Amino acid sequence: MKSTTRRSFLTLAGAALTGVGVAGCSLIGADDSPSGSGPTKIDRPLEKSRTLIAYFSVPETEDPDNMSDDEENSTHVVDGKVLGNTQYVAQIIEKRTGAEVFRIETAEELPLDHATLEDLALEQQEGNARPKLKTLIPNLEDYDTVFVGYPIWWYDLPMPMYTFLEEHDFGGKDIILFSTHGGNRLSGTVETITETLSDSTVISNAFTISRDDMGEAEAEVGGWLDSLGQKASAE
Ligand SMILES: Cc1cc2nc3c(=O)[nH]c(=O)nc-3n(C[C@H](O)[C@H](O)[C@H](O)COP(=O)(O)O)c2cc1C
Repeated sequence: MKSTTRRSFLTLAGAALTGVGVAGCSLIGADDSPSGSGPTKIDRPLEKSRTLIAYFSVPETEDPDNMSDDEENSTHVVDGKVLGNTQYVAQIIEKRTGAEVFRIETAEELPLDHATLEDLALEQQEGNARPKLKTLIPNLEDYDTVFVGYPIWWYDLPMPMYTFLEEHDFGGKDIILFSTHGGNRLSGTVETITETLSDSTVISNAFTISRDDMGEAEAEVGGWLDSLGQKASAE
């Protein structure tokens, strides 16, 4: 095992205590206010047919029973069905906006075992990899607004998200970000995406929620959608 490989990331508080730097992320008050340089509100209406929700999420089991702590951490069970945390947030946004949904998946299936997934994710990050995606959004030109959702992996975007951002042309579109995390909030990812998508309008008012707070996600997401400046229409 490489010396840099750790079995788990440190939360912001843990990183501060041990003096470990978290790339692109200030340790105090990170992401409590809008980050990135884009506007905080959207100008365009959230039209069902012109809005897409694209998300990456890796629930570490499909079995709602007898979950390990790691499996519980990475999932939220709704009506007996196991969802990833980010997937659950995507579903709430879908319910509120009626927008279409695209799931970002890697061509190669990811390991469900937590430690193996962590090691692979770190290896990909250290190698600045661009893991191949299963498919790209086939009809991106149909959308004006794209919600983009992802979990924080090793204080950054999962590397498949870089593939996703670089292999699509989001020029001229409004991009609204949402994320789930295990303590490190947005970890500078809004700034990273704003820089990467320089031809798009990346809204700085990104949503983030801890995996420990998924029970409050519905209300939190509702409040956030309202704060974007529009009443999202319930179906
Ligand atoms: C490979 C890996 C690395 C992670 N690294 C971090 C991290 O650096 N900071 C953090 O706050 N959470 C980290 N987490 C926790 C996830 O962000 C959190 O569990 C998230 O809600 C998972 O979302 P998902 O179920 O949609 O995949 C990591 C999880 C995994 C699997």
